[in-house]
Amino acid sequence: MKVTVVGAGAVGATCADNIARKELCTELVLLDIKEGLAEGKAQDMMQTAALLGFDTKIVGCTNDYAKTGGSNVVVITSGIPRKPGMTREELIGTNAGIVKEVCENILKYSPYAIIIVISNPMDTMTYLALQSTGIPKNRIIGMGGTLDSARFKYQLSTHLGCSPADLNAVVIGGHGDTTMIPLIHHATWNSAPVSDFLSAQQQQQVVNDTMVGGATLTKLIGTSAWYAPGAAGAALVESILRDEKKLFIA
Ligand code: 2OP
Repeated sequence: MKVTVVGAGAVGATCADNIARKELCTELVLLDIKEGLAEGKAQDMMQTAALLGFDTKIVGCTNDYAKTGGSNVVVITSGIPRKPGMTREELIGTNAGIVKEVCENILKYSPYAIIIVISNPMDTMTYLALQSTGIPKNRIIGMGGTLDSARFKYQLSTHLGCSPADLNAVVIGGHGDTTMIPLIHHATWNSAPVSDFLSAQQQQQVVNDTMVGGATLTKLIGTSAWYAPGAAGAALVESILRDEKKLFIA
């Protein structure tokens, strides 16, 4: 199996790191437009292979799409991240052209690839990828719901004092500060509704904190988050390549 991650910034590199550590594919290509960045990060990650014990071969390249040829799954993280105070939607002017061009280049060399979109504004970029490529919709997946649901579980786990892995909780709607809908009334802790344990006020707090999860991190860090977005992309890659039959709400 072969995977390409386009964009070797923080999100792309973290996604690639997760994919390699889990040995989800034999070859992993990391591509960036910035000269040497992807090559450098790929080499740095390859130098962890002996320490972490993985056999995935990571290849970095500068805008050389021929190297991505025959990829089964491609993760697109290209574009600029938001700065504190910005909405994801404000990135559309810059990122739309980039994502469209990346999709065209990818499909030239990997016409059957499944594409996972992480670039923001994620919902719009996913739709743009669908419209501009014309490939079937089951081959273009946005990773927002996967990330937002993971953040929802994190917020719930801090209030419940439990493991996020024991929770069943999903976020629907858009991947935006005001458009996502954490389904608190359907959230359960090992089948028990979370309302058995949390007051109405606590539940509202969880919902609010989940919705601004990305913005809170952007304010703290000074740029967009990367560990959870990268891991969410890798979780989708894992589910596809291992055919896990998992249900992710996009
Ligand atoms: C986030 O929510 C990057 O949009 C992403 O952190």
